[in-house]
Amino acid sequence: MSLYKDEELLQQRYGSQQKPDNIQWTPEVKTMLTHRSVRTFLPEGLPEGTLETMVAAAQSASNSSALNQWSLVAVTKPELKQQIADTIAATVPTDRIPWIEEAPALLLWVADLSRSEEITKQHGGDPVVLDYLDSFLMASIDSALAAQNASLAAESMGLGIVFLGVMRNAAKELAEMINLPPYSFVTFGMAVGKPDPSRASSIRPRPAQPMVLHYNKYDPGEYVKYLDGYEEAILNFRTEQGMKIKTWQEAVCFAATDMSYMGGREKLRQTIEQRGFKLL
Ligand SMILES: Cc1cc2nc3c(=O)[nH]c(=O)nc-3n(C[C@H](O)[C@H](O)[C@H](O)COP(=O)(O)O)c2cc1C
Repeated sequence: MSLYKDEELLQQRYGSQQKPDNIQWTPEVKTMLTHRSVRTFLPEGLPEGTLETMVAAAQSASNSSALNQWSLVAVTKPELKQQIADTIAATVPTDRIPWIEEAPALLLWVADLSRSEEITKQHGGDPVVLDYLDSFLMASIDSALAAQNASLAAESMGLGIVFLGVMRNAAKELAEMINLPPYSFVTFGMAVGKPDPSRASSIRPRPAQPMVLHYNKYDPGEYVKYLDGYEEAILNFRTEQGMKIKTWQEAVCFAATDMSYMGGREKLRQTIEQRGFKLL
C-alpha cells in the first residue's frame, strides 16, 4: 500500500505538466501509480509465499485463448544467478549489473509454445500454426501480461522489481543455462526483492496524457505540443536523482540510432529461429 497522498502521486508522475483531475483512486490504482523500478535491494530473502502469490497473480492475467503459453523460471540459486549476471554484464559497457546480483530472485519470463507443440504432436497433429509470427507474438504478449500482474502483486506486498530486457542480449546462452526446451524463449527477466530504503528510487515522470491518449482517431503530431513540458519533468527528475543530464529526446534518438543500445539483441531473430520458431 502506498504511503503517498493521491495528489503527491500525480505530482511525481507528471511533474508540472497537465494532470488528470478525475482519477478514481482504488487501492489497485494507487499501487500502480506508486510504481518505480527498484535497482537496490536488501540482502534478505523473499518472504514466505512471495513467489507463489506472484505466480497466482500472473496466472490470473488474461491469456490468449486460455492456452497458457508462458512459463516462469525463478532463479534462486546464488551461483546460477551470478553466472547469469556475469554473462549479461559482458554484453553491456559496465562490468557488473548490481541489481541482478543483489536481488534474492531473478525471474525469467518465458514465451512458451513448447507445451502446445508437444501436446499437439502427442495427439497426432502437425502444429503448423506455431510457425507463424502471430503465435510467437501471442506467447510474448501473454508472458508480459503475466509478468506485469506479478510485479503489481510484488509491489502491493512492499517488494520492488525491475524488468530486465537486457536478458535478451545473451538469449542463446541464457536458454542453455536454464535448460529451455525448443519453442520457448526468455522474453525478459525481472529482479525482485526488498527495496533498500537507504538507496530508494523515485517515481519517474511520464508524459502528459494527450501525448499518448487519442480519442477515436490517432492524431499524428499532436504529441509535439507536450514535449517541452515532459522535458522539464524529466530534467527535474534526473537532477533530483543525481543522474547524468540528458533530454528525453536525446535518449529516444540514442535508442533509435546507436547500435550499442542493442547489446547483442541485433542477433535475436537468428537465436529465436534456432530455438524452433519460424516467424512466418
Ligand atoms: C520490457 C522492459 C524491459 C526493461 N529492461 C530493463 C533493463 O534491462 N534494465 C533496467 O535497468 N531497466 C529495464 N527496464 C525498466 C525501465 O527502464 C523502466 O521501467 C523505465 O525507465 C521507467 O521507469 P520506472 O519503471 O521506474 O517507472 C525495462 C522495462 C521494461 C518494461
